[in-house]
Amino acid sequence: MVVKTATFVCSNTRVDKLPPANLPEYAFIGRSNVGKSSLINALTGKRHLAKTSQTPGKTQLINHFLINDAWYLVDLPGYGFAKTSKTNRSAWEKFIRRYLSVRENLQCVFVLVDSRHEPQKIDLEFCRWLGENGIPFLLVFTKADKLSLSKANTNVELFHRALLEWFEETPLHFLTSSETRVGCEELLAAIDEINANFQPLDSIDR
Ligand code: GTP
Ligand code: MG
Repeated sequence: MVVKTATFVCSNTRVDKLPPANLPEYAFIGRSNVGKSSLINALTGKRHLAKTSQTPGKTQLINHFLINDAWYLVDLPGYGFAKTSKTNRSAWEKFIRRYLSVRENLQCVFVLVDSRHEPQKIDLEFCRWLGENGIPFLLVFTKADKLSLSKANTNVELFHRALLEWFEETPLHFLTSSETRVGCEELLAAIDEINANFQPLDSIDR
């Protein structure tokens, strides 16, 4: 898929204020600093579309971007931000989990995982929660430019293996880098395929 246009639509803390749910939507989620905003910029070829930062906790709202006037890409705040207070963290949990549970046009969640690390409990448990709630997700391993392919593949393999404790089969994964754009075409192709089958809820005969 070629990204021709990518525009910022709105930022929200309230699920009832989101844009109309008439287009397919994809959300990027993962630990703080894993590279969600950077990957959105790499995918769209717009360096400053989503705000990135070396300091974890940059993205604080649900940010909607409209791509090719046809689908939404959503940048979410990261989880596991150590400096956030407990109150803040539970507010995050409530609002993100609510968004993920009720957003009816959400086609798929992309769970971003840092390819440099062995499986982390917080990521595995988040995947488990998605599975338990019947929310479809795919895995995106980030920052592949920062280590050798074989080391990244080892971590990817370990992550799949860890998920098999809870899942009968594990989702597809992409190994990506926002620096080199490796994996970006594959990720866009996956979105394209899902878009092709999208039917807005109000067009489905009940
Ligand atoms: P929060 O909004 O705080 O949750 O973070 P985020 O997940 O959106 O991360 P962000 O995209 O802001 O990136 C965090 C840091 O990692 C920045 O300094 C980026 O430049 C760097 N980074 C992100 N992706 C890559 C990548 O693929 N390769 C390299 N080398 N650095 C990356
Ligand atoms: Mg961000």
